[in-house]
Amino acid sequence: MKSIVVANWKMNPATFKEAKKLFDATRKAAEGAKNVAVIVAPPAIFLRELSVGYKGKRLTFAAQNAHFESGGAFTGEISMSEARDAKCSSVIIGHAERRGMGEENDDTRRKVVAALTIGLTPVLCVGERTRSQSGEHFEFVREQLVAGFADVPPAKIPRVIIVYEPVWAIGAERPMNARDMHEMAIFIRKTVVDRYGQGGMNLKILYGGSIDESNAEDMIQNGDVNGLLVGRASTDAEKFSALVSALGAL
Ligand code: PGA
Repeated sequence: MKSIVVANWKMNPATFKEAKKLFDATRKAAEGAKNVAVIVAPPAIFLRELSVGYKGKRLTFAAQNAHFESGGAFTGEISMSEARDAKCSSVIIGHAERRGMGEENDDTRRKVVAALTIGLTPVLCVGERTRSQSGEHFEFVREQLVAGFADVPPAKIPRVIIVYEPVWAIGAERPMNARDMHEMAIFIRKTVVDRYGQGGMNLKILYGGSIDESNAEDMIQNGDVNGLLVGRASTDAEKFSALVSALGAL
């Protein structure tokens, strides 16, 4: 079974030397698992040096975030074209930690279309902060999806990768239950199809939140997902290699 694994290093590690070491282990893991498509998202400042040194084809690069404007007075930001120029093929958009810093649905909407326009694959993150019995989280996720796809031409809908990452399961002890993910994957597809048409059937949906080498397989087999976004375990070379080879064996 072919799966996608996004290695989101977040703001780690502290030095390029360590980043290079982690990248070498990540690359080896990717090369050993033919049916796993690894997407590495290092801190922007390390990106170019890692990507230009990589000649293989087993792994691709993503920016952790990029601005929707093509250039200008945006101190501290990077643009989609700068990310592409640094050899990224995708960009994470609307990660919960970015949303926590003030990013809104309107920003993610603009970023998704800006990424597609420049030829980057948007990796659009959605997920509620909390859950209650009344099921309000479905409405919350629906709004994030509707906004994220609002300006996407129908033909390009299947190019967007969705990551469902409930905020309460990020940096937690364990991921959400795979059966609950299955339910959410059905909801996500249905939401996009109802609103934006059949292209939604072909969406790739990933899960993110406390995935490691011990639970990745269960989530892929029972969660109705095409892959995983991995935070902490992606910066631990041993854990990440074990995770990728577990998926490679499926
Ligand atoms: P985590 O992060 O794997 O460290 O929980 C996941 C995420 O950011 O979605």
